[in-house]
Parts: sequence; structure tokens; C-alpha cells
Amino acid sequence: MNKKTIEDVNVTDKTVFVRVDFNVPLSSRDPNETITVTDDTRIRAALPTINYLLEHGAALILASHLGRPESAEDREYAMDPVARRLDELLDAPVRKVGAVVGPEVEAAVAALQSGEVLLLENTRFEAGEKKNDEQLSQQMAGLADVYVNDAFGSAHRAHASTEGVARAMKAQGKPAVAGYLMEKEIAALSMAAENPPHPYIAIMGGAKISDKIKLIDDLLQKADTILVGGGMANTFLAALGYEMGESLVEDEALEEADRLLELADRRLVLPLDLVIVDEAEPDAEIEVVPVEDIPVDKMAVDIGPDTLTRFEKELEGAALVVWNGPMGIFEIEEFAVGTNDLAEILARLVEDGSQVIIGGGDSAAAVQQAGLADKMTHVSTGGGASLELLQGEELPGVAVLEDK
Ligand code: 3PG
Repeated sequence: MNKKTIEDVNVTDKTVFVRVDFNVPLSSRDPNETITVTDDTRIRAALPTINYLLEHGAALILASHLGRPESAEDREYAMDPVARRLDELLDAPVRKVGAVVGPEVEAAVAALQSGEVLLLENTRFEAGEKKNDEQLSQQMAGLADVYVNDAFGSAHRAHASTEGVARAMKAQGKPAVAGYLMEKEIAALSMAAENPPHPYIAIMGGAKISDKIKLIDDLLQKADTILVGGGMANTFLAALGYEMGESLVEDEALEEADRLLELADRRLVLPLDLVIVDEAEPDAEIEVVPVEDIPVDKMAVDIGPDTLTRFEKELEGAALVVWNGPMGIFEIEEFAVGTNDLAEILARLVEDGSQVIIGGGDSAAAVQQAGLADKMTHVSTGGGASLELLQGEELPGVAVLEDK
């Protein structure tokens, strides 16, 4: 990465504004309940940056969005559960303020000492955040001496706390640099996007083709083979003329699927067999059938064992594997077998020397659920951000940071 990082600037006795991505899953949407963080992966992923800055004598202002609130009225998205979890994970005291900018924040920042942490309220409680409002960006920039962006998962958003504030800091002659998580994510994903070692096998899954057409097009230029599972495989199979019964098929993407299949010239590997059920419920009776035998009243919910064997064979000896999207409805244990078994195969590949990168979002959740996240070369904390980076797009939250 050609951007400056926290190691390139002096942070001792400085107030440092760190944009983190603490957009984490919560236990409830009811503001009257005690809401807790149900997966703290993203908070833990920011700890190396936070701890480095604290150890080097900085006073920290941390800022993040949480969920997609309409306004500050949506109290279920207040940062309190995040503050509690962060406090448990850090040795330093964590104080949370009830605003993003304004007098309460300015007073708290004035009282902030080296080695202390102040967590701001949800940045999306400010109407100007998503509009990348200049005044809000200026106000944020006025709070600190140094800006650090460690929010990889939000780097594809040009919002006030991810982009505008960095521009405002630079205009004020203050540094705007990347944190360790940002650096690590960019290194892993841009290697895959720009300079992948071969054989390079991509695995695509998830519900829809339409979300990932650009990525598949791009992968067809860079990867040697693309293995396809999950809901998106149904649409490819339907485009080839298979009866998919009640399975999720994106009719409006059939033409695109046709085009991609032609372009791929057999480098897109589709399922040979599928797990089918009457309805997507945990107690549904499960059958495994070849793709040509799907009854009109059944739906596919997972890949079958023959598919897995075929995928394993394709993956053998891969130098690089990038996995994006689950192989079925993995949230239901009974339909997570294909996804979990694939994660096992990938863990073994890493032991044998392959590099395996897991794109964020559902695939990261799936390897986490399979207990295999630690076995992969890199598990991204970004969903949309990792997709955009993988398909070679520039992320505004990174582009704005200072070059080395
Ligand atoms: C994510 O979860 O992908 C990031 O935190 C960005 O969230 P957003 O899609 O609501 O902007």
C-alpha cells in the first residue's frame, strides 16, 4: 500500500481521531432492552491500531457508524453496547459521549488525556454523515491533531467520517493516515485484485448474481477457474436450461448469466448435485439429487457431496483461493454442510501452502461459524468494501489518505 500509516506519524501527546468500523451485530433492536454485541470480530480487529496508539502516548477519539439509522431518534443504534464491549477488551478507560460533534464532545476532548479513549456516538446520527457534509467534516477535523482511518469495512463509503474529515484534516495541515487493519486488508485484497499468483481459483456463492456481475466479469479475466455455489448457481443452471423447481432463480439476470457462461468458456464450474427440500425450514426432509433431477415442487438449499468432491479436485494445488459467498442457506445448520465442508477443505489447503482469502460479509460469518476463521490466510472484515476492492475499484476512504 502506498499510503502513510500510523507508524509514519508522531502521535505522542497528540489527540488522534480514529475512524473504526464498529458496525457489529447486536442482540436486539429494542432500545428498552439491554442490547449486547453478538459478534465482536470487528472491534477486536481494530485493537492492534488502538493499542499501538495508546502505547505511543496518544489520546484517542474513536468514531464509527452502527447499522443504518434514519436519525438520532433510532436509539437502538446508539453506541452504548459497543462502548461496553470495547471497555472489556481494552486496558485503558473508555468513555462514551452522546454526540458526534458539538459542545459536549468538545468538552470531553478537552479533558481527554494521553492513554484515554473517547467513543463518539453513532456517526449516522448526524444528518451530514452520509452526505459527506463539509461543515460536519470540518467539525470532526477540529477535534484532533491526527486522523487515522482503520475502518476498512466502510472505506467504500465517501462519508464525512471516512472521507470528508480526512480532506479537512489535510487542508488544515494535519496528517491523515491508515491504521493496521486498513493496511492488512488492502495488502491481502489488492494482491488478489492486482497481482494474483496462479493457479488462482475463485469461489462464488450467495443469493444473487446481480450483486456480483462486475466481480464475476473481473474474475473471468484474472482467475483460472470460478467455482459457483449458493443461490447464484441456480440462476446459472436455469440459464443452461435446467428445471430448478421452487429454487431461488433471478429471472431478470438470466441473460447476464448466459453472457457470463459464454465468456467463461467452461471456466465457471457449476454444481453437479444439490440438497433439496420442500421448504427452507430446519426440520424439512432433505434429499440430494443430481442437478438434472430437481422436482418442480422442491428447492435447492445447499450443494451436494459430488459437487464438493468436484470442487475439492479443482482446488487441489491452488496458489490462491478467494471465497465470496456461502454455498447454501448456511444460517440453517441443516443446510450449512456444503459451506462448512468447503471451509474444511480450504483450511487444509492453507496447511498445504495455498493462500486462502475470505471476502467479508456472509463468507466471513460462515468460516467463523465453522470455527475455522483462524485457519485462513486472511478473513476480510469488509463486505461491500472487499467486493469493490477485489473488482479493482478505488475506495474513497483510502484514496484520500496521504501517500507515502
Ligand atoms: C458493512 O457492514 O459492510 C460496513 O460497515 C458498511 O455498512 P453500510 O453498508 O451500512 O454502509
